[in-house]
Amino acid sequence: MPVITCIDDLKRLHKRRTPKMFYDYAESGSYTEQTFRENTSDFAQLRLRQKVAVDMSGRSTTSTMIGEKVAMPVALAPVGLTGMQHADGEILAAKAAEKFGVPFTLSTMSICSIEDVAEHTTKPFWFQVYTLKDDDFMRRLFERARAANCSAIVITVDLQIMGQRHKDLKNGLSAPPKLTPASIANMMTKVQWGLGMLQTKRRFFGNIVGHAKGVSDPSSLSSWTAEAFDESLDWGRIAKFKEMWGGKVILKGVMDAEDAKNALSVGADAIVVSNHGGRQLDGALSSIRALPSIVDAVGDKIEVHMDSGIRSGQDVLKALSLGAKGTYIGRAFVNGLGAMGEAGVTKSLEVIHKELITTMGLVGERRVADLDRSNLLIPKGFEGDWVD
Ligand SMILES: Cc1cc2nc3c(=O)[nH]c(=O)nc-3n(C[C@H](O)[C@H](O)[C@H](O)COP(=O)(O)O)c2cc1C
Repeated sequence: MPVITCIDDLKRLHKRRTPKMFYDYAESGSYTEQTFRENTSDFAQLRLRQKVAVDMSGRSTTSTMIGEKVAMPVALAPVGLTGMQHADGEILAAKAAEKFGVPFTLSTMSICSIEDVAEHTTKPFWFQVYTLKDDDFMRRLFERARAANCSAIVITVDLQIMGQRHKDLKNGLSAPPKLTPASIANMMTKVQWGLGMLQTKRRFFGNIVGHAKGVSDPSSLSSWTAEAFDESLDWGRIAKFKEMWGGKVILKGVMDAEDAKNALSVGADAIVVSNHGGRQLDGALSSIRALPSIVDAVGDKIEVHMDSGIRSGQDVLKALSLGAKGTYIGRAFVNGLGAMGEAGVTKSLEVIHKELITTMGLVGERRVADLDRSNLLIPKGFEGDWVD
């Protein structure tokens, strides 16, 4: 087995072992990919303040997210088609998260269904929903999530229409993959992946196929989005979904301080500062640059989480130091899954945990709750100096 020391090692293996269509689906952003690139490069602009001769013994990364104990404040983000990166991918990722002690978020657009994941885990997980036109379908989704003992709903508010990813169109992305000479030739080089897929029955959108009425082609993400997603979504409707669910709600995809205040007013329990990993509004600020102003606006009234661009424990530490109470990883765990299945997801979490706890020591902190902006060197103008 190769020596894995960082998320990039897993990414290389992921690329080698997974069909191009699905690797490209994960490793891309919308349009010019400016926001996708800056999500990671902006983390590098922040530097860490080294502290020496501070007692760093007994460090701990434990914390809470929406009142739930976590081994470190790093949840697995909802990722569509995870079960195409590796057979039964959502089940494997959920198991790895449960064993590690971090939250797992299941996407509506998953291959394994809510019931599948519940059957293979013992602790509550979180369920992500898109806001759809069909209230009956939404109500049924909530009922299924309740029956599966999900402890929170993550409502994604930044994808009523889909940002275009050029590679997905060129590759003809679908689940299961359409068989063309090019896709067959590529899949034939991914033997382990293919054997896994032959052995599982989970190859379709498990939460949708057989549950949604009148959707003609759920194999294609873009056609399902165009047909089912509600372009008229507003804050009133978000409040209605919160009431329909009746439990804890995390609103994902907030990038603006005014929107964060609206999230507060509809009674959300947490928000995720997120630009969907650079997959939606190309040209939006990176999440890490948007984070400080949102923390300043609402951070004392609502739990602020963040994602987009995290590839290391140092990145997690930077987000926490800027005031996030929790973070999420998307591609970083998908790279692990595509590389080595459940063991790979565990490896992603181990890599990030080790980097986080080591870096905490080197900046002279023992608890994640003690991290703050004094641990960082923030370049002047980091948040941007924009014309009103
Ligand atoms: C391949 C892929 C699929 C995704 N699918 C979903 C989804 O179904 N629902 C959702 O809310 N976010 C989805 N996201 C966004 C992630 O939840 C998260 O915001 C993003 O991955 C964070 O950026 P990172 O990958 O740089 O960590 C997806 C991201 C990726 C990379």
